[in-house]
Order: sequence, then structure tokens, then C-alpha cells
Amino acid sequence: MVTLLENPLRVGLRQERTPEPLILVIFGASGDLTQRKLVPAIYQLKQERRLPPEITIVGVARRPWSHDYFREQMREGIEQFSTGIGIEEVWQDFARGLFYFSGDIDAPADYQKLKAFLSELDTQRGTRGNRVFYLSVSPKFFPEAIRQLGGAGMLADPVKTRLVIEKPFGRDSSSAQQLNRVVQQVCKEQQIYRIDHYLGKETVQNLLVFRFANAIFEPLWNRQFVDHVQITVAETVGVEDRAGYYESSGALRDMVQNHLMQLFCLTAMEPPNSLNADSIRTEKVKVLQATHLTDIRNLEYSAVRGQYGPGWMKGEPVPGYRQEPGVNPNSITPTYVAMKLGVDNWRWKGVPFYMRTGKRLPKKVTEIAIQFREVPLLIFQSAAQQASPNILALRIQPNEGISMRFEVKMPGSDLRTRPVDMDFSYGSTFGKTTGDAYERLLLDCMLGDQTLFTRADEVEEAWRVVMPALAAWEAPTDPASIPQYEAGTWEPNEAELLINRDGRRWRRL
Ligand code: BG6
Repeated sequence: MVTLLENPLRVGLRQERTPEPLILVIFGASGDLTQRKLVPAIYQLKQERRLPPEITIVGVARRPWSHDYFREQMREGIEQFSTGIGIEEVWQDFARGLFYFSGDIDAPADYQKLKAFLSELDTQRGTRGNRVFYLSVSPKFFPEAIRQLGGAGMLADPVKTRLVIEKPFGRDSSSAQQLNRVVQQVCKEQQIYRIDHYLGKETVQNLLVFRFANAIFEPLWNRQFVDHVQITVAETVGVEDRAGYYESSGALRDMVQNHLMQLFCLTAMEPPNSLNADSIRTEKVKVLQATHLTDIRNLEYSAVRGQYGPGWMKGEPVPGYRQEPGVNPNSITPTYVAMKLGVDNWRWKGVPFYMRTGKRLPKKVTEIAIQFREVPLLIFQSAAQQASPNILALRIQPNEGISMRFEVKMPGSDLRTRPVDMDFSYGSTFGKTTGDAYERLLLDCMLGDQTLFTRADEVEEAWRVVMPALAAWEAPTDPASIPQYEAGTWEPNEAELLINRDGRRWRRL
């Protein structure tokens, strides 16, 4: 029999479960993510009565804030970035469970003090020693924080304590392996939750349902019928106020190694034996192991970078990346990446997966498009036009949905054909907006469900795939050689070429 835990995608059932009382300890509590995403997500769960009344949050950071100041900051965050406070009593009850602890990430004495404080809270709040430690600090502090937590014995109980690690997990293959070793020295894999917020998106999870709960698509989902796949994650925002982080990260580390690779895995993996966390993660690892950039010797045939220059967004002039505050005027950090991946297995051999992501593109859109092969013989030549290929487009965001493009005869006595779309839209079918990805992921972590979190080997394999590009692009180069694209336009010419060379085109979205 399948238990609830083993079958987390039976959403209706899963959601009825409530986590044990626990303390969520957020390192990096004075940062953006805590105020914009994490605490608003927990508050939303509270409003939906999905959390036990004892739920307690301790924000940890260096600044000397008081509990009350922390509460005010979090309230502002909820008001500004979420659906608001709602019923005042609910907020008051929630706020009583919010605490702040000022400490240094590298001071052992502070971990001892924190440990004592958490024990006090156990007594006061009834949280029974259950802890989720959330690392929302700069990635360079991950190893130190993990070692210190381990050293203070705060991760010793594999059942009651969990560790959430934000992305990026490592800067490259070797640092990811090293970080995995650091974590594995202080806790067991079952305690480790490597987060990728794309996996918390409803439509990303729907990919599994779409593929494996329908009989009609799976037979077509292979090299016999699929010509190629395009995965696009386009953003309109620029670097915003994150130059400090982004300059040392760039699009490859920030988006490709994690979010795009996850979308790729769910599209390309084999059917898992069951929906338990390890079955799914094992399939993801297997497909990654078979995946590589298609041409490493001539890298520009399989990986292209780009950087946005000055341009226009919504009728307003915007600066180029190198003119953004905090960015080196000679920066070679990519804000755009396009790649062509090949998968050496029976299902996909010879089918290219084209991926692209960039900031300051004309539209915010995330989509996976499966383009099918052409018909073997087009008998409608008299129509003097070419049939367009069938395309199955999975829209992850916005306007979440799925559409299928096929050819129809246009009305009239001439035999003329035209492509049309059969469309499913979440909004019009279900009429409600889906929750934030962090809500889903935080709840899963509290419930001890690792399905939507990445396993050690998965992260390492994803790094391996992108390493040839990363290594080449780390090398010093003339800044003038970085392909540029005007803000508010689609990819640089080099990225067009990457796909045009194969006689294909990027979709215009
Ligand atoms: C984050 C990246 O992980 O994802 C950001 O660090 C990016 O640079 C963001 O803007 C995109 O997420 P979403 O959910 O808006 O597509």
C-alpha cells in the first residue's frame, strides 16, 4: 500500500497533513528573501491553517535588532510583498511566535547561545526540539554555518532536525562536491533540503502529472516523434540591486545550473517507479548522467553567452548591464545564456534540447515547447504553403497552461491550411491563483517530504553538464568579445545562430 509520504503528489491527501510543532531558524534574517518570500510564505500557510499553533520562527543575523523590530520588518514584508495581514488576531498570534537572535556566523559561542535560546523556546512554545535551519545567507557562508551548526550538535538528531540550503549550491562542480562533503559530515541526506524554488511552482509539478497520468502523450515523447525541445526562461528585470551577488554568479550559475536543468530533467526523465522522493530523484540523476553539451570543442556551437546593453523597456530607457550600479564597467558576467544539450539514451539520442535564459528580454515568460517532427510527406503541396510543425507548449508562467498546435483546413473552397492552438489555461479552468513556490516548499520540508528538493548527486550532475561552458567563460577575455543584446530585445545574434545553424528557430513568445 502507498503511504501518504510515499505519494506526495496526491495533493489533496498530502495537504491535509500538518507539520509537527517546530522552530524555523532562518540565517540571514535581515536579508531580502526572508522579508519578501520566506516569512510571507509561512504567514500565508498560517492563514490557511496549515501550520500547528506552536509554529515559531527565529531570525538570525548580525544586526542588533530587537524581537519587536524584527516583527515590524516582517509585518511590512507581508503587507508589501504578499496578500496582506488579513485578520489582525491571526497576525498577533503569529507575531508572538517571531523572535530575533543577533549572532555571528563564524562565532562558536553564538551557536551555543542560540542553542540555549532554542531550548528555552521549546519550553515556552512547545516545539519539542523540532528544528528546520534555513540558510538564506550569502553562499560563501554556507560551509562555515553548516560546520558550526554541526559542531554545536544542532543537527545531531536526524529525525528532529533539518537543514535547508538555498541556491546556488556551490560555484562549480568541485565546490558543490566539497559542500556536499561538508554537509554530509554533519548530517544525513534525509535531513538535507537543497532548495530550487522552480520545483515549488505548481506548473512545474504538473509536468509530472501531464506526462505520467495521461496515456496519449508518453508514446510520442521520444526521438521517433520529437524533433527538438526548447526551454525558455525569459525575464524582463535587470540585475536589480543584486549586482554584488550577480557579478560573481551570472546567468549560468543563477538560472541554468538549477532552474533550467530542473525543467529539463522533468521533461526528459524516464517514468519513475513511484512518486516517492528517491524514485523521482534517481530518474533525474539518470537523465542528467546521459546529458552533455553537444559540441565542447567548438563551444559556440553548443553554448552562447550574452550581456544586455542599454535599451528600452515599456517605453522607458534602461541602462546596460555594465552601467548598472555596482557592476564592473568591464564586466564579462553573462546575463543571457543559450545552450544546446544532447541526451545519450534510447529515448532521446539525436534530439537536441535548446535552452535559453536572460534578463532584460522583452517578456517574462517560462515555457517548455516540444516540437514534433514533420509529416513524412506533405500531400497538400497545392496549398502552396508549408504545414507548420505540431508544438506542445507547456507554459510555466505567466498565464499558466498547456497548448497544442496543429494544422487545420481553413474554411473555403481553396485547400489552405493554418496552424491553430488547442489551449488549456489554469486560470480559466480552476479560477484561482496558485500559491507561492516557497509556501509549497517550506511546507514540504516541515512535513519531511524531499521530493521537490535536489539530492546531492543531482546537484553534482547538473554542475557537470554546464562545466565546459563555465570553465571556458571564467577565463579572462576581452570584454568587447562578450555578445551584446539591447535591453528589451530577444537574444544576441550568436544565440540565433546556435539554433539557426540546425535549420531551426527560437520560438517568438
Ligand atoms: C532566482 C534568481 O533564483 O530566480 C533570480 O536568482 C531570478 O535572478 C529568479 O530573477 C526568477 O524566478 P521567477 O520565479 O521570478 O521566475
